[in-house]
Amino acid sequence: AFKERVFSGVQPTGNLHLGNYLGAITKFVALQDNYDCIYCVVDMHAITVWQEPRELAHATREVTAAFIACGIDPKKHIVFNQSQVAEHAELAWVFNCVARLGWLNRMTQFKEKAGKDRENVSVGLYAYPNLMAADILVYRATHVPVGEDQKQHLELARDIAQKFNNDYGASIQNHGYGDMFFPQPEPIIQGPATRVMSLRDGAKKMSKSDASDYSRINLTDDADAIAQKIRKAKTDPEPLPSEEKGLEPRPEADNLVGIYAALSDKTKAQVLGEFGGGQFSTFKSALVDLAVAKLGPIGAEMKKLVQDPVYIDSVLAEGSDRARVIAADTMKAVKDIVGF
Ligand code: ADP
Ligand code: NA
Repeated sequence: AFKERVFSGVQPTGNLHLGNYLGAITKFVALQDNYDCIYCVVDMHAITVWQEPRELAHATREVTAAFIACGIDPKKHIVFNQSQVAEHAELAWVFNCVARLGWLNRMTQFKEKAGKDRENVSVGLYAYPNLMAADILVYRATHVPVGEDQKQHLELARDIAQKFNNDYGASIQNHGYGDMFFPQPEPIIQGPATRVMSLRDGAKKMSKSDASDYSRINLTDDADAIAQKIRKAKTDPEPLPSEEKGLEPRPEADNLVGIYAALSDKTKAQVLGEFGGGQFSTFKSALVDLAVAKLGPIGAEMKKLVQDPVYIDSVLAEGSDRARVIAADTMKAVKDIVGF
């Protein structure tokens, strides 16, 4: 049996937002009691699209600050940045040789991110899911909390683990590693708002890279900015429905109710029990109060932490040292198994 271990990551690409918070970081926090957790700032993923070096370094510290401000304990669990543990890249190369081209061709996120300019995106953007599989499997992690947008990538990681175990099955046994070397990592995707949508367009996910700042609530937004963005959030003219199925054809309403539910630890049905039949203006005021109460202290703490780069860097250095011990152990075995 594999030790139950959680791995997940966030890219340091600026503008950490409510989607990252509800879809990822709050889940990371909740898992700390029951698992050994490894939370990674995935700076190598970030450079699959161009990053200004100084902004990248700042964003790496900012994500680290967000982890800590949201309640991740870097003494108990491992917090580090990907580029400091070379084994991620080493295992990713092996996985480049395990994964099939056809598998990567099916990845919808690549299609979205590459857009029409497919000939001119980096090879890294295409191979990104293989590196993500290496991130997880270099720690032989069993559980991965992610937003729904990452589900397909996690399935690919499972396929890679399985193909490695099959292709090298005899060698795994000969070297005394049992029947299976890599576990099949399980996604942890649960609760409302695992996919937070843009405040301007209910068909697009809330994203760091959206050109409109009004599309997202950033974790460092102050109370005024949060209030303005929620008041301007797109809605429709109907009052709120009193039952959940009334949200189905109304993506913007569904999104705001989902956000309220997630921030208050309620179900959407409970939120509609309270606000159903009422006007959006009333609901939005309550959502502003809730969002400011939840996010205000986090943003303030992040700003404080970012002003102490020596402390942040010491957290990352210590986390990297601890991560490297586990990753090196895996890579030593992988080298035996592959025949290096
Ligand atoms: P982004 O997609 O904004 O570039 P990342 O790729 O760094 O952010 O994602 C970090 C984590 O946040 C992932 O686990 C991802 O699933 C989650 N996440 C990102 N955007 C959203 C969203 N709009 N709703 C829910 N979760 C999200
Ligand atoms: Na993403």
